[in-house]
Amino acid sequence: MSVSDAQLARAVELLAAGQLVGLPTETVYGLAADATQEMAVRKIFTLKGRPAGHPLIVHLHDVAQLADWAQTVPTLALELAEAFWPGPFTMILPRAASVLDAVTGGHPTVGLRVPGHPVTRGLLEVFGRSHSGAVAAPSANRFGRVSPTRAAHVRAEFGDALGMVLDAGPCEVGIESTIVDLSGDRPQLLRPGQISLEQIEAVIGPLSEGQDAKTPAPGTLKSHYAVEVPTYVHQNASVLPDAQGRRLGWIGRKMPAIREGAWVLELLGDAPEEFAKGLYAALRRLEAASVEAIYVERLPETPDWQGIADRISRACAGYRSSD
Ligand code: TXA
Ligand code: MG
Repeated sequence: MSVSDAQLARAVELLAAGQLVGLPTETVYGLAADATQEMAVRKIFTLKGRPAGHPLIVHLHDVAQLADWAQTVPTLALELAEAFWPGPFTMILPRAASVLDAVTGGHPTVGLRVPGHPVTRGLLEVFGRSHSGAVAAPSANRFGRVSPTRAAHVRAEFGDALGMVLDAGPCEVGIESTIVDLSGDRPQLLRPGQISLEQIEAVIGPLSEGQDAKTPAPGTLKSHYAVEVPTYVHQNASVLPDAQGRRLGWIGRKMPAIREGAWVLELLGDAPEEFAKGLYAALRRLEAASVEAIYVERLPETPDWQGIADRISRACAGYRSSD
């Protein structure tokens, strides 16, 4: 699946005109607006149904643009950029004075990421020649819902309300970027992702523990990244629960033993990279298949599964454990 130069040029035109574009990144699809146009950024909040205080990540082509968006660029930020950009990694820094309140949700900080997806990199490059070269983009889903990892998911969320979705096929990573907050006294992990805590600590040393109340990251809301079907973690990976005749969905790594019931199985593979890549599409397929509940295999508690376990626990928030 590739995006033509003509499609890229059209996307740049739309962004410049203050319209929104569905954009592939290596993590999930984003809902992009020119980060310097207030009306365009406001459209994102309206379309998503997202509360205004929830800040957006600004996507840049190049680490050199950091100085335009952050008040100061600490050495730690440059070290992290060197290690993880372009890639599935976001940092929070004190904002430059020129950054729109609409982008930061009124917070004194701004989230910045240089994505690695070639289509988005191409777009940002062309957009930077004639315009800001920066797009504000949350995940392209309605507020609280699971993020899109296929162009079709974006269309399913927004229908015709969105002028254009650049279709570059399935996202490679499948869960949202790792977020580190560098705006406080000590760096803090706000959202785990494919780039693990260990990898970050190997670059900049220990991160501080726990959430800092002054920088709430709404992606860390307990219930989030969810579909409209009750979702549970099932403790036993090898035998399914008793379905009592119901039609249920299962997401796991391997084929489990089925007791009874009409199970719709989504087997995602053993490696965390494969599992993450397929997870959101599996949740959406099970939702579309009208199962009564979804059970997700309990996953290992090792660092490489941390980002995935985090998203599953949020998809399950509000529901009791299955056993
Ligand atoms: O992988 C990703 O990060 C995707 C792709 C499209 O880049 N984007 C994404 O954006 O997941 P969103 O808006 O769905 O989630 C970003 C999270 C939100 O929870 C937001 O509150 C938090 O990042 N965030 C953004 N700016 C922040 C800031 N200045 N301070 C604290 N949290 C921030
Ligand atoms: Mg999101």
